[in-house]
Amino acid sequence: MPKTKTTFFCQNCGAQHAQWVGQCPNCKQWNTVVEEVIQKEEKRNWKTPSNTQKVVSKPRRIQEIELNTEERIITRNNELDVVLGGGLVKGSITLLGGEPGIGKSTLLLQVALQIPQKVLYVSGEESQSQIKMRAERLQNEDSNCLILTETNTQQIFRNVEEVQPDVLVIDSIQTLYTNNIEASPGSISQIKETSAELIKFAKETNTPVLLIGHINKDGNIAGPKILEHMVDVVLQFEGDRNHTYRILRSQKNRFGSTAELGIYEMLSDGLREVKNPSEILISEKDTDLSGTAIASTLEGVRPLMIEIQALVSTAVYGTPQRSTTGYNLKRLHMILAVLEKRAGFKLGAKDVFLNVTGGIYIDDPAIDLAVVAAILSSNQDIAINPDVCFAAEVGLAGEIRPVSKIDQRIVEAEKLGYKTFVTSKYNKITSKNHSIKLILVGKIEDAFATLFA
Ligand code: TYD
Ligand code: MG
Repeated sequence: MPKTKTTFFCQNCGAQHAQWVGQCPNCKQWNTVVEEVIQKEEKRNWKTPSNTQKVVSKPRRIQEIELNTEERIITRNNELDVVLGGGLVKGSITLLGGEPGIGKSTLLLQVALQIPQKVLYVSGEESQSQIKMRAERLQNEDSNCLILTETNTQQIFRNVEEVQPDVLVIDSIQTLYTNNIEASPGSISQIKETSAELIKFAKETNTPVLLIGHINKDGNIAGPKILEHMVDVVLQFEGDRNHTYRILRSQKNRFGSTAELGIYEMLSDGLREVKNPSEILISEKDTDLSGTAIASTLEGVRPLMIEIQALVSTAVYGTPQRSTTGYNLKRLHMILAVLEKRAGFKLGAKDVFLNVTGGIYIDDPAIDLAVVAAILSSNQDIAINPDVCFAAEVGLAGEIRPVSKIDQRIVEAEKLGYKTFVTSKYNKITSKNHSIKLILVGKIEDAFATLFA
């Protein structure tokens, strides 16, 4: 009997170590190294073809390789299709990560029920009746989706051979195990091995596979970072569990841009696609409230109108407080310093709170001007007209700097019914004939003068 071989794997980053160590030298995490049994590899000459490999590949000239035009499956879930870059590519492996309870299973079950082709939905987490209950809430009668509850990959592939699905969905990769190795499900070596099997299956049969992956407390896909290298597309499903909005982001996409973004709303009957994201990010108001300003930002290629709220009040304690949600705190400090130095606003003894509504984090510098406007509006207690929006970066000298894709932002603002657009005079605006009024400013003082004149 061959001796069982074990190695030590870091459960956080997947690094392999010869012996147990308290701290993983690779990712510097403590207590993450675990001993796992691995299969003793047979000594193989590189020349002997492995008998498991049936498809023999041969090198070809790049000119001879023909392009398949019909290589995508349209999922009919518009937001997902956009994020994937125009549908699910045949033979691709897509990994969907997200915190527990964020709605990964809901999203993929909903997609599985929507796709007109035959889908096999494999769940290792829920029973068939639980899935049925969930599907009932999602209300989709005429679907072509089969449900299998199984965690053993050999059993899954047996079913796959029988069913011949056009799309395979796995919920989740951490529950799968293969008979080929002895480690427990969810361990690094099992995840590596089962995903390798799935990738091989996808490539050989040209079937797209959608995988759900759990994420750990640092927000990485649990266990192996390696998994992200192995798959074609990595999607992240995020959002605040207390808010109903969810954002689908692409972190890696071998078939499209990673700039795209999908927005959903979690309702009692499933996830609704949000076609006009600005609707959710701007709070409804009927009275003029001071301290709010609308910023035009870009998330990927899509312009988004978001609302910035600021509250400036006299500090109760000796040291004034500054706090932000959805915006970089250091950047707020910088903007306050610029306002103090260049525009002479005395904010040194004031508490400043800043909030980006909708629970999302923005790092587009184009929202700076809206931040300035919101702070000044709260400080002066003068409301900004709700049909004004802002897009510009603020520099250290108090100058208002140009931003990228200005034409797109203006068009979007116009489409959404804004009347005035405040931006930098240094922008190169090429589009003409706007019905929206453009206010071009060069310095913070100019902006202030036009706003509160
Ligand atoms: P789920 O998809 O199970 O999350 P994950 O697979 O990422 O762990 O989603 C769980 C949450 O979604 C649950 O708390 C209830 C909520 N939910 C709705 O609000 N509406 C629905 O129609 C469904 C199916 C779930
Ligand atoms: Mg789930």
